[in-house]
Amino acid sequence: MTSSTEPTRATRRGTANWPTAGLSFGGDYSPEQWPWETVLEDMVLMGEAGVNLVTLGVFSWVVHEPQDGRFDFTWLDRMLDLLHEHGISVDLATPTAAVPMWLHRLHPEILPQDEHGHPLAPGGRLGWCASSPVFRSYALRIVERLASHVAGHPAVRMWHISNELGGGNGRCHCPVSNARFRDWVEAKYATVDALNDAWGTAFWGNTYSSFAEVTTPSGVTAHNPGQLLDFERFSSDELLGHYRAERAVLQRWTPHVPITTNFMVGLGPDVVDYTRWADETDIVANDHYTYGPDPLRHQELAFSGDRMRAMSGGGPWMLMEHAAGAASWHPINQPKRPGELIRHALGHLARGSDSAMFFQWRASRLGTEQFHSAMLPHAGRDSRIFRDITTLGGHLRALREVQGSVVADVQVAILHDNEAGWAVKSGLKPINRPSYAESARAVHNALFERAVTADIVPPWAALADYRLVVVPGLFLVSDTNARAVRDYVEAGGTVLVTWFSGIVDEVNTVRTGGFPGAFRDLLGVSSEEFSPLTVEERVALDNGWTAKRWTEFMRAPEDGSGVEIVARYAGGTVSGAPAITRRTVGAGAAWYLSADLEAADLGALVDRLLSESGVEPAAAVPRGVEAVRRRSASESYLFLINHTAEPAWADASGTDLLTGTLHDGQVPLAAGAVAVLRESGAWSTGSQGPGRP
Ligand code: GLA
Repeated sequence: MTSSTEPTRATRRGTANWPTAGLSFGGDYSPEQWPWETVLEDMVLMGEAGVNLVTLGVFSWVVHEPQDGRFDFTWLDRMLDLLHEHGISVDLATPTAAVPMWLHRLHPEILPQDEHGHPLAPGGRLGWCASSPVFRSYALRIVERLASHVAGHPAVRMWHISNELGGGNGRCHCPVSNARFRDWVEAKYATVDALNDAWGTAFWGNTYSSFAEVTTPSGVTAHNPGQLLDFERFSSDELLGHYRAERAVLQRWTPHVPITTNFMVGLGPDVVDYTRWADETDIVANDHYTYGPDPLRHQELAFSGDRMRAMSGGGPWMLMEHAAGAASWHPINQPKRPGELIRHALGHLARGSDSAMFFQWRASRLGTEQFHSAMLPHAGRDSRIFRDITTLGGHLRALREVQGSVVADVQVAILHDNEAGWAVKSGLKPINRPSYAESARAVHNALFERAVTADIVPPWAALADYRLVVVPGLFLVSDTNARAVRDYVEAGGTVLVTWFSGIVDEVNTVRTGGFPGAFRDLLGVSSEEFSPLTVEERVALDNGWTAKRWTEFMRAPEDGSGVEIVARYAGGTVSGAPAITRRTVGAGAAWYLSADLEAADLGALVDRLLSESGVEPAAAVPRGVEAVRRRSASESYLFLINHTAEPAWADASGTDLLTGTLHDGQVPLAAGAVAVLRESGAWSTGSQGPGRP
């Protein structure tokens, strides 16, 4: 069933095509694991909680196609009708994350192979190589049968392609992948000479004489950084190719149903390049899980939300999965603290999500994730989690008017590029096993603690509207993107570049002449050697601040070229060298931080940058209270989340949509409490800054 009026991408994307009339609330739903009486009980309890969307059929391939070529949609039809009768919309999954055992038996060659050429065993999930034409043909067949079968069913409001693509099958070294990689490399470089130049194969005499000699970077002594980086890109492209193939089938049968796939956006680098994939989806969706023992887990949650917002072009995105309580894959899986379920869900909403979806609705008794929490835990309805879920359902109904509003007043951008993260882990480095996002996280934490919202954007994003741009450890950057940072500064912006930025170009080749390579001219300084520190070592700066992990032998010109030395190293191998510099460039300022500062000292530097660039917080709140503003065409909403164990106050006015209470000037927040104010008139004073309207 195809439509004569094909929707354009612009009409497919965004709130107009959102699967629920209000904020989406629900989770992964696996009724195939349960008897029918339990399914009927689910309908009652979903009604009680206010669930309006479930993700169905993620692992149901074998239910739809119990044997090769024998299709049976009886169960699916029954479920779709039942959910529709109960007013619950369906985010229907293509079931390709769960390869039927009969397919593994018929085609063992579809299994991904590790770098030693060992195939995964059948079972688990995502047991397929993204390059396999055999798998592709079976996958597209079930997708075609499924889509043609459900086309026109009113319950089907969104498509969920596969599940966490790349989670388990992200990198494959099978013969098919090797052949595809050779083709990909040849298409990219055209000549073997160009390939040898790009990868620098003269080192260790690894020069190729033909593309036929190229392999995936599997088990050898140590790998070429260019080859490793290209293999990351290739692998992401192969998974994207699979996604697009499934999407094309769905678009043919159900052109008006929005299509998504669930990302795993966290700190990065990600298994696939989500930023470059995001436009391929109609609604950008994320799965996010916090780590219980991490005291800053709510800040890590905010970091991923701020990344998601950039991927949705500033508009609403969908939190597709998070946990109602403990996960089960960490060494120790801790439950959420009292009230944390609601704080976390609202934390995602504050940063632009128009949903609070969970993995999963009902806790499984059996199978791999039998101890993963759920909206309805093993304990059943009479439980803390289900009470919190019901409260959250009520909150989401009270917040319905927030749907479609966007995070506003964002004055700070943090540049983040997955390719830079891949480049950091591709090849040997001054510090091995570094985590690319740690520098970005450190700055983001400091901003979070000051109630300053940041957009975490790719380096090709438009920067002009931001008052402050941070370039944290952006190891790989193109000349064009480095130039854009310079243009931004010349036009009056303030930028902070931090250590290990601008070091390599797009093929992972070091930029010579002094670090930080691509940003050296802008900053007016040059480092000639890195001097990383052991875990225990600390180096003092002459302004009383302390460096950990990283210092540099940096030189600043003595000819008055506008470089101000803000602080020098007062110890370590780099004693006396500049540590932090500031340079006026055009109408703006370019700062360089060559050291990894202790958190409190980084906070002090951030304070200075915020004040110099005129960045204001969303509200005056004490440390530990999250404050983020969303705005619609007519209203402004201030999210306040007290993550501390102490009562707190926020300087703000408006009506708390969760309680109906009108606050005039001060909002009391009990320990762990949340409030969402409709600010009505209180904000329209012209102080909203240059962020998005
Ligand atoms: C992921 C998956 C789910 C489930 C959850 C919880 O996000 O998409 O299927 O495995 O993790 O572990």
